[in-house]
Amino acid sequence: MSPERPTLRVAKIREGTVIDHISAGNALVVLRILGITGREGFIVSVAMNVPSKKLGRKDIVKIEGRELSREEVDKIALIAPRATINIIRDYKVVRKHRVRLPKVIKNIVRCINPACITNEREPVEPKFYVVSEEPLRLKCHYCGRIMEWPDILASLYEGSS
Ligand code: CTP
Ligand code: ZN
Repeated sequence: MSPERPTLRVAKIREGTVIDHISAGNALVVLRILGITGREGFIVSVAMNVPSKKLGRKDIVKIEGRELSREEVDKIALIAPRATINIIRDYKVVRKHRVRLPKVIKNIVRCINPACITNEREPVEPKFYVVSEEPLRLKCHYCGRIMEWPDILASLYEGSS
């Protein structure tokens, strides 16, 4: 029996949302992007670095009792472009879709330009346009600064230790 044999690490859920095929190691950033802190009260299970046929290794997040909307979840394409969203009802997958990067990214990435209005004391919500998907490049709506992938990544990980 191979140690890479797929096994169910986290029990199936009755109702809710399963975010599958998250790039390995990124589940916690996915939760941050979704704004899920764990203090909301619903049950959240996280599996990291699980063997996957498609990806080698992957992360999975299961959120019980909440059906996340497509709009909410598509933002995670920033860090998990191959993620699939599964809506579960009565133990069955009733909807499945791949995340799709939105054209506009609001409130997730912080502009690296220190002089940008979004970095001033009076908070203006950051807003970026996707100008290239691979490699990912974002353009600030306010100051026009282009954020390169390493800048985006640093911003996504900011504040997490
Ligand atoms: N899942 C779950 N609870 C359920 C049903 C499914 O937690 N009641 C999880 C599965 O463990 C899997 C994901 O939701 O991680 C998708 O389920 P399914 O479509 O049955 O799996 P696959 O066919 O392997 O999905 P894919 O083709 O997207 O890889
Ligand atoms: Zn800016």
